[in-house]
Amino acid sequence: MSAKNKLHSSQFHPILRKINEQNVDISFHNIMYPVFIVEDDNQQQVIPSMPSVYRFGLNKLIDHLTPLVEIGLKSILMFGVIDILPKDEIGTNADSNKNPVIRALPILRQKFPDLLIACDVCLCPYTSHGHCGIIEEDGINNEKSIERIANIALEYVRHGAHIVAPSDMMDNRIFAIKNKLIQNGMEKRCSVLSYSVKFASGFYGPFRDAAKSTPQQGDRKGYQLPPGSRGLAIRAARRDVDEGADMLMVKPGIAYLDIVRDVKNEFPEYPMFIYQVSGEYAMILHGAKAGAFDIKNILSETLISMRRAGVDCIITYFAPTILEWMKDGH
Ligand code: PBG
Ligand code: ZN
Repeated sequence: MSAKNKLHSSQFHPILRKINEQNVDISFHNIMYPVFIVEDDNQQQVIPSMPSVYRFGLNKLIDHLTPLVEIGLKSILMFGVIDILPKDEIGTNADSNKNPVIRALPILRQKFPDLLIACDVCLCPYTSHGHCGIIEEDGINNEKSIERIANIALEYVRHGAHIVAPSDMMDNRIFAIKNKLIQNGMEKRCSVLSYSVKFASGFYGPFRDAAKSTPQQGDRKGYQLPPGSRGLAIRAARRDVDEGADMLMVKPGIAYLDIVRDVKNEFPEYPMFIYQVSGEYAMILHGAKAGAFDIKNILSETLISMRRAGVDCIITYFAPTILEWMKDGH
């Protein structure tokens, strides 16, 4: 036995406990809030699988965000959802001038001049088949898909997106997007946040309800990563780093913290994002509602564990709850 093996001496005081937790605090810039925006500016739609999360029309979204920005919300991630505009094979309405994200961007920029605005870039909410790329007889056509995705990204940047975040998982989309931005002189105005390590996960279930983006046939296993693969995960991150990604992401969150640590160790120079996805949100919310645990306790612990794994920014539907706690000094 030695004095070195006595740990309680580092834990008996709350400040000592804090000192022993390294880089796990949550500040405002460590939180990004995902929001769903629909075509009808005055609508607020309930999402049954995600209690307290809504699809907002532009006016309702502004009303919703205003008090949050006042208490310190620093960034949002926008998802467009359509139920009036038609869907087709190539997702024409992802970047048409009627797209709710495109219409909202200039207005949100003006209303919230200090807010950092990211846009998810994908085809699945806008395609008739619900897949994230362009489909032909023998499956995804990667080349056509990334050309389309790069054009959508460019359009979001033109309308004011600070960050584009491609979530499709096609090969070489980061290169296609970066190139497109450079060709159009926009590369300085926009960061590319790659959903670089995105697994084919059951945790996305509630989101597909929310975004109306469930594939009509088949699944996404041909382009999203197999949950057990550590090697492909690192290779996907490396590919995106090589292609010029500004920031990296692992998704889902809680079940993939080992991958976060791997990626952070491999690429410490890059900001790491994690997405606490819809299924994680539902799990925590329903667990707390059923009386299994205290939400504050569990949610704080998940956030801390993400920071401990090496995450710089957490994308979470709990952002409003977390901001309220921060306001109250907890
Ligand atoms: C679609 C997309 C998904 C999510 C973000 N973008 C679902 C999917 O890939 O099927 C998941 C987000 C969540 O579950 O909260 N490209
Ligand atoms: Zn998609």
